[in-house]
Amino acid sequence: MKIRSIDDLDVNGKRVLLRVDINSPIDLATGKIRDDNRLRMSLPTIRDLTEAGARLVLIAHQGDTLDYHNLVPLEEHAQLLTEMLEHPVAYIDDVAGPTAREAIRRVQPGDILLLDNLRFLTEEVSTFENAVKLSAAEMTGTYLVRHLAPLFDIYVNDAFAAAHRNAPSMVAFQELLPTAGGRLLVAELDALSGVAEHPERPCVFVLGGLKISDAFSMMRKVLAEGIADTVLTSGITGQVMLMASGIRLGEPSEQFIRDRALDAFLAPAAEYLQAHPDKIRMPVDVAYDDAGVRAELPAARLPAPAPIIDIGSETIGVYREVLAAAATIFVNGPAGVYESEVGAKGTRELWSAIAGAAGYSVIGGGDTVASARRFIDLNDIGFVSTAGGALIRYLSGQPLPLLQAMEKAASVA
Ligand code: 3PG
Repeated sequence: MKIRSIDDLDVNGKRVLLRVDINSPIDLATGKIRDDNRLRMSLPTIRDLTEAGARLVLIAHQGDTLDYHNLVPLEEHAQLLTEMLEHPVAYIDDVAGPTAREAIRRVQPGDILLLDNLRFLTEEVSTFENAVKLSAAEMTGTYLVRHLAPLFDIYVNDAFAAAHRNAPSMVAFQELLPTAGGRLLVAELDALSGVAEHPERPCVFVLGGLKISDAFSMMRKVLAEGIADTVLTSGITGQVMLMASGIRLGEPSEQFIRDRALDAFLAPAAEYLQAHPDKIRMPVDVAYDDAGVRAELPAARLPAPAPIIDIGSETIGVYREVLAAAATIFVNGPAGVYESEVGAKGTRELWSAIAGAAGYSVIGGGDTVASARRFIDLNDIGFVSTAGGALIRYLSGQPLPLLQAMEKAASVA
């Protein structure tokens, strides 16, 4: 897709408004940031704009009404950015009110100012977005955009992880200001379009975990469009596939699936299996928790007497071979209950196979990255996306409001 990069604009001495996604998990007990990865990933754009002489103002959200304990001010974010950049990042506890606007007017070339949490404004929260559904043009009349846009020459968006949010800070400044995508946004789109549009073959999708709605929406698209050559299923996704092929998992696992209404995925699972029998791989054996001890059972000998917690050793061997031969690998979700020692083997061994594979690997999403980090060095992964929900939507072929706004801005530039 065509969006402008910051290299296409002269930012020297200009007032640049940069939207980043530094939304970070907050520790419940201490109220402090638990993982600073998104802050680190935002540094290249901040650094490059500052070095090019921009008068830089950052806007960002943190938490949400749906995610309330994370809805905190951005003061700690400014402190951490200051340490990481070794350059002061000023913070002001106002988003777009008179104090923020006065501070913005005082920003000099090379200065960096971080405004407060965008989601302290009603028009920026997802409940507002879902209820009111403003167009990007209508959002130019929101409190944030009306007050900030006149103070800037250029708008830069580097917040791919929030690309699915149709919020004023994400899509409306493009209507009013010359616009470019930051380094991270461009890198995310390069890596993900590589997987979603022109993957090196064979292209393997590894879909596991508990959030099977994500796995199924991606599976639908990558199978229908011939993007995936092989889909390796594991986790609950693999269990639903086994059930859909007529295998009884055993009462404890089937109960788990029914209790969460995941049996709704049996019909699409059966449909995909029928349409793409040679592309979808299911576990050939499973592991269950036999009173605290790992026990394995071939799929042909199911049902299991206790909850299934992992793929079995034979499946691990088969999947490792597929991964070793892959040119492109995309991973979403762990293979089993990796937090417990009895359920960790599949997740651990698949991650080590992916880390050691010659193919280009792409991963993203909080749970997936957390499970990878537990077993391997993330430097052994080709690209670690900062996105969760946005990534799933992108790979499921759903339109992303940010990308629509950036494309529109590039087309009128
Ligand atoms: C994320 O954490 O996925 C992004 O920052 C978007 O946050 P949201 O899901 O609260 O909109």
